Amino acid sequence: MPIWALSDLHLAFSVPNKTMEAFGPTWKDYAQKIETNWKKVVSVNDLVLIPGDITWAMHLDDAVIDLKWIDALPGTKVILRGNHDYWWSSAAKMSKVMPPSIHFIQNNVFVWEDVAIGGSRLWDTPEYSFSAFIEFQENPRARVKTSEDFAKEKEEEERIFVRELERLKSSLSQLPKDAKVKIAMTHYPPVGADLGPSRASEILESFDIDMCVFGHLHNVRQNSLPFGEARGVKYLFTSCDYLDFSPLLIM
Ligand SMILES: [Fe+2]
Ligand SMILES: [Fe+2]
Repeated sequence: MPIWALSDLHLAFSVPNKTMEAFGPTWKDYAQKIETNWKKVVSVNDLVLIPGDITWAMHLDDAVIDLKWIDALPGTKVILRGNHDYWWSSAAKMSKVMPPSIHFIQNNVFVWEDVAIGGSRLWDTPEYSFSAFIEFQENPRARVKTSEDFAKEKEEEERIFVRELERLKSSLSQLPKDAKVKIAMTHYPPVGADLGPSRASEILESFDIDMCVFGHLHNVRQNSLPFGEARGVKYLFTSCDYLDFSPLLIM
């Protein structure tokens, strides 16, 4: 069965003032574009991985409208938390409202036929940077930061990143040994553009992951970040503005 991936939908049905349309013409009618492209390529029996930044909703109750919109699209979906998914809640609370075609990864794995999927969000790491590949665009909602803010941020970043690496190990350790294909989802890229070894890539390799899908980066210049295969793991960058809002066939 085909498997697709599309990250960073950033839906805003419950918070229209946060629509991505403020970020320029690329994002014009983005939800409509996603829906049209998705329905063109994805069939009801397919699987679609959505590695994070799913909706701008702040609370679980508000996210339901976006989750229902995703549920109405064809296929079984697997979601992972991104850095903007503030609505994400405990597994128990999310299970209660999650529509039937959507499954979430949170310190667990999802098994689909002979394919097994695990993962964790990850975070920024000083190991690599993508600024050379990104078309700088002023964030209309950003606040000005001081050098003290930056120093504090770096310290906090490392603390969160290390915790996320532990979560990645914990999830991947639950992948069934006999799974034919092992897929990891991370929201943040687990390697740099040169695919050199990183703390996250070493974990993926140690669990024999076949491919890792991720997103998070936006405004990446077209064709500038092909990623690719390194040490047995295929790295697939799936942010929807990079993929022209159409799911990428990964298997
Ligand atoms: Fe994003
Ligand atoms: Fe993100």
